Amino acid sequence: MKNIVILISGRGSNMQAIVDTEIAGARIAAVISNKADAEGLAWARERGIATASLNHKDFDGREAFDAALVQLIDGYAPDLVVLAGFMRILTPGFVGHYENRLLNIHPSLLPAFTGLHTHERAIAEGVKFAGCTVHFVTAELDHGPIVAQAVVPVLDHDDAAALAVRVLVEEHRLYPQAVADFVAGRLTISGQRVLRRD
Ligand code: GRF
Repeated sequence: MKNIVILISGRGSNMQAIVDTEIAGARIAAVISNKADAEGLAWARERGIATASLNHKDFDGREAFDAALVQLIDGYAPDLVVLAGFMRILTPGFVGHYENRLLNIHPSLLPAFTGLHTHERAIAEGVKFAGCTVHFVTAELDHGPIVAQAVVPVLDHDDAAALAVRVLVEEHRLYPQAVADFVAGRLTISGQRVLRRD
């Protein structure tokens, strides 16, 4: 059994999709949030999953918060740490500690539109396709080796909210699949590329 720890900050719909997939060979060891009132925490708790929260505001700087977060996470002996809407920039120390076992989902076709407000920016730039990306996390924000991507069309009448809904449907399909691929040992990192074998 591979232990998975999922980090969230809000509603946790990607976390829910991963939990509901009941990935063979995986166990959700804990769901952790930097916000005690994150909707997703209550959802996980109701399902009997261990939950914890650690408020970044209680710490003097990013290094101190990340060090405490590592301690908390490692208490669950994770084989994989999954960022699912975890709205914190992580320090190189944190990222290095979980090298090659830290995944994130970003709501754009990376390397386009790193950072926040991806859907607004995609519409403003006039792109015809948007989507989402699952990637291994490296120290550079939203730049790690790409595991999987899904594409959706940008429609003429789209606003950011409508596009976000269409992308989210794909996120909920893509992320559990990527986690399952990791758990099954199907992924190999080769430089900036991730090779997947069936
Ligand atoms: C998703 O759009 C994800 O791509 C981004 O933050 C959002 C989190 O949504 N990183 P949820 O908390 O999983 O519902």
